[in-house]
Amino acid sequence: MQFDLVITGGTIATASDTFAADIGITGGKIAALGTGLQGADTIDAAGKLVLPGGIEAHCHIAQESATGGMTADDYRSGSISAAFGGNSSFVPFAAQHRGMGVTETLDLYDSRAEGASVIDYGYHLIIADPTENALRDELPAAFARGVTSFKVFMTYDLMKIDDGQFLDILSTARDHGALTMVHAENSGIIRWITDRLMAGGHTAPRYHAISHPAAAEAEAINRAITLARFVDAPLMIVHVSTPEGADLVARARLEGAKIFGETCAQYLMLTRDDLDRPGMEGAKFMCSPPLRDRATQDALWRHLQVGTFSVFSSDHAPYRFDDSGKLAKGPDAPFKVIANGMPGIALRLPMLFSEGVAKGRLTINQFVALTATNQAKLFGMHPTKGTIAIGSDGDIAIWDPTKTRTVTLADQHDNMDYTPFEGMELTGWPVTVLSRGERIVDAGELVAKPGRGRFIKRAPADFTGYPGSHTPELDPTLNFGADIARGRRT
Ligand code: URP
Ligand code: ZN
Ligand code: ZN
Ligand code: ZN
Repeated sequence: MQFDLVITGGTIATASDTFAADIGITGGKIAALGTGLQGADTIDAAGKLVLPGGIEAHCHIAQESATGGMTADDYRSGSISAAFGGNSSFVPFAAQHRGMGVTETLDLYDSRAEGASVIDYGYHLIIADPTENALRDELPAAFARGVTSFKVFMTYDLMKIDDGQFLDILSTARDHGALTMVHAENSGIIRWITDRLMAGGHTAPRYHAISHPAAAEAEAINRAITLARFVDAPLMIVHVSTPEGADLVARARLEGAKIFGETCAQYLMLTRDDLDRPGMEGAKFMCSPPLRDRATQDALWRHLQVGTFSVFSSDHAPYRFDDSGKLAKGPDAPFKVIANGMPGIALRLPMLFSEGVAKGRLTINQFVALTATNQAKLFGMHPTKGTIAIGSDGDIAIWDPTKTRTVTLADQHDNMDYTPFEGMELTGWPVTVLSRGERIVDAGELVAKPGRGRFIKRAPADFTGYPGSHTPELDPTLNFGADIARGRRT
């Protein structure tokens, strides 16, 4: 039997196993794992690691920010940058803004993504306006079209929902097997400090970190977990940036709640000292939650090691250091009106490999779980995506574990004018990236056409094994319990 493509001689690693085998791919799918396989086309992977292609599950692409500006990356440049970084699929956000319908939002993002992406994609739906109609009709319609995850915000005036709206969204998502994600920061604390910093003339970028204290994250994570457990809904706390927040996630998981955690590269690689630069330079390092300190980095590594975090992301939020992005509100705008976020979609995997695997903090199997397999499982793409198994898509990244390179802006292949990780020396780089058995990046070149990427119609996630919780007041066998559980407000 001859396969379309055979990858020979590599060391395959999945989330559970590491073994030597050839991979035979036919019709875009993995058809055989074995030895001596023959193909019409061959990639020699001797001395290389053969991993599932990364899945970037937290990135902002062709999206309006909470302060109004548009990201510098669209589905073309964002997917190309992701591919150079070892990813073969990604799930950016489709952001509903108040006054927009859910279906209208998804249609808009379809039009932004179609014909542009080089890798397969889906969207998490950001819900900012959970109207009765959205909850009753539009969210079920979103599940039916394969959008099985949401994000909500507890802060940002234009995006935030209140606790009652949060319960509505959590319980609707629960009923459809969807996973809600939350940006958990206490908006009152942030506004209270920000107003006082502004009044005192403390407007430089470095004050952004002061204005988003650890307590704001911890309070909101605690509240979010409490609300999710109250209605027994799955919830992922995204971009956890503090030991306090990570401890809350770990405790809830230990207690059997369907609580998941994500942390992001910048919280492990940078600190708030990076904001402390002359002039506006610090704005390049502004993100929310903000960068913290060295002790936090150590704590977050521990939580990655012991499984508190299921997902490791870039939170790629590309706003250029010019008047289209960070400086849109003026060359010395106060921190509170500067777009939050930093780029890094091409570096998520190389940074975690170099600082994690190469330095002995993580096994290669943990690396695969944190960068691909857990994303596929939690966001309804497994086993089509996120693993190397017979029947899975031929989404594969071939890594040279010994290659050392210094990070430069040009190597990002994004639309940005800076990278916050400039000059980092990293060991271990993807050299060939495949999507459905097609080379998309090879030997430092893009070899795929924008538009080849397909929408991933995602399934509900499987939360088997999580005991969850029971709230006596919501017991449907009680005469009033059914009315509460039914979720009708009038
Ligand atoms: O600062 C960040 N992370 N900006 C992107 C938007 C978000 O909250 O994820
Ligand atoms: Zn966020
Ligand atoms: Zn984000
Ligand atoms: Zn802020």
